[in-house]
Amino acid sequence: MTDRTSSITTHNGKTSELPVLSGTHGPDVIDVRGLYKDTGNFTYDPGYATTASCKSAITFIDGDEGVLLYRGYPIEQLAEHSTYLEVCHLLMYGELPNKQEGQEFNEIIKQHTMVHENIRDFINGFRYDAHPMAMLVGTIGALSSFYHDSLDITNPKHREISAQRLIAKMPTIASYCYNHSRGLPFMYPDNNLSYVENFTRLMFAVPAEEFEPNPVAVKALELIMILHADHEQNASTSTVRLAGSSGANPFASIAAGVASLWGPAHGGANEACVNMLDAIVNSGETIEKTIARAKDKNDPFRLMGFGHRVYKNFDPRAKIIQKMCHDLLSELGGDTPMFNLARELEEATLADEYFIERKLYPNVDFYSGIIFRALDIPMNMFTVMFAMSRTVGWISHWMEMHEDPEGRIGRPRQIYTGAAKRDYPT
Ligand code: CMC
Repeated sequence: MTDRTSSITTHNGKTSELPVLSGTHGPDVIDVRGLYKDTGNFTYDPGYATTASCKSAITFIDGDEGVLLYRGYPIEQLAEHSTYLEVCHLLMYGELPNKQEGQEFNEIIKQHTMVHENIRDFINGFRYDAHPMAMLVGTIGALSSFYHDSLDITNPKHREISAQRLIAKMPTIASYCYNHSRGLPFMYPDNNLSYVENFTRLMFAVPAEEFEPNPVAVKALELIMILHADHEQNASTSTVRLAGSSGANPFASIAAGVASLWGPAHGGANEACVNMLDAIVNSGETIEKTIARAKDKNDPFRLMGFGHRVYKNFDPRAKIIQKMCHDLLSELGGDTPMFNLARELEEATLADEYFIERKLYPNVDFYSGIIFRALDIPMNMFTVMFAMSRTVGWISHWMEMHEDPEGRIGRPRQIYTGAAKRDYPT
């Protein structure tokens, strides 16, 4: 932080000396908190594209350079050397665990993998054809009615236990949402397996048969989960912070994040992307026609899995996952027309002026959707997988927010454009 200021004179001739703040990396930030008091003006920034809503020490993104750091570590290095649970420890506590800390963290997470038996009944109460994301939003919110003993948000130990519970129970709940939608039995977690192996067993095993986790699937999922673990103040994380800023309990706050993630412009993009590819294959539409539609301003169609609010060079996660996606498709074969189309679309857009000018590249969800399809993960589970991976990011931000001495309830302003004050007709 510095003692520099920016002097701003507004249209009404008032001046405000606004402090300039600096972080470890990233552009300087003008602290506009005094602007209204000094000048009577608000700032207007729909979508918060130029507004820092908080200070955070968790994740840094440089969208122009394609940089993503978790607690200072480049995502490329974490993807190569880490496990997902190590990344969880890093995001939650600020440091990679040493061997003993890693083992202890593993043990704690394992202790919490089961859910209250009534949660199974709760999930069984959903309609047979409910979308797994609909069940997930409801069930995560419902956890606050089961775990009363860790709901005191002013108690750091309670906050930590709730965080551990959420990380540990997410694979169990995610798989139950899927199993319910398929009429399959709910498996209990197997704590002899790794976090990701256990998830594949919960999803795909049946009690009547032995289950051996598929190492190709486990490796791919572990990587995808690391890449999705956090992404600073994206829509769902900001939603978690906003919900949590009122003092809402952690389960309710994370449920709000799951709801925000569901939208196709955010975490729903992986499902929307594969839906789009399927629709193109089934309709027989050409790549040229598809791209022309995406460019046509009179057509609401957008290429799902392309573009990003922050990354205007490339999405470093997409670069990592692109290689895995290509390797996996060569290894597994599978849904050939759809995979061929994805490859052609990727090539065609990367060479197209419209996409180059606007810096629209395939994003992480383009590749993750295709990988999930190649691994036979059902389409309506794609966003659930994203939610499972991002839970640690959400809860780390929620914990950080509660430790921030500057934390206040989130309460944006507006430009009122409705009717001027008028009298009730009598
Ligand atoms: N297809 C066609 N045109 C696009 C696309 C697209 N996917 N994305 C942006 N554009 C155009 C847009 O029409 C606009 O053109 P113009 O300047 O001529 O008006 C320009 O690019 C800038 O778009 P924008 O909507 O102002 O950009 P944004 O930063 O508000 O939106 C986005 C970012 C990710 C919501 C958007 O690119 C999009 O809708 N992409 C498809 C959905 C998607 O893949 N979302 C996942 C994002 S990554 C994972 C995550 O964070 O959840």
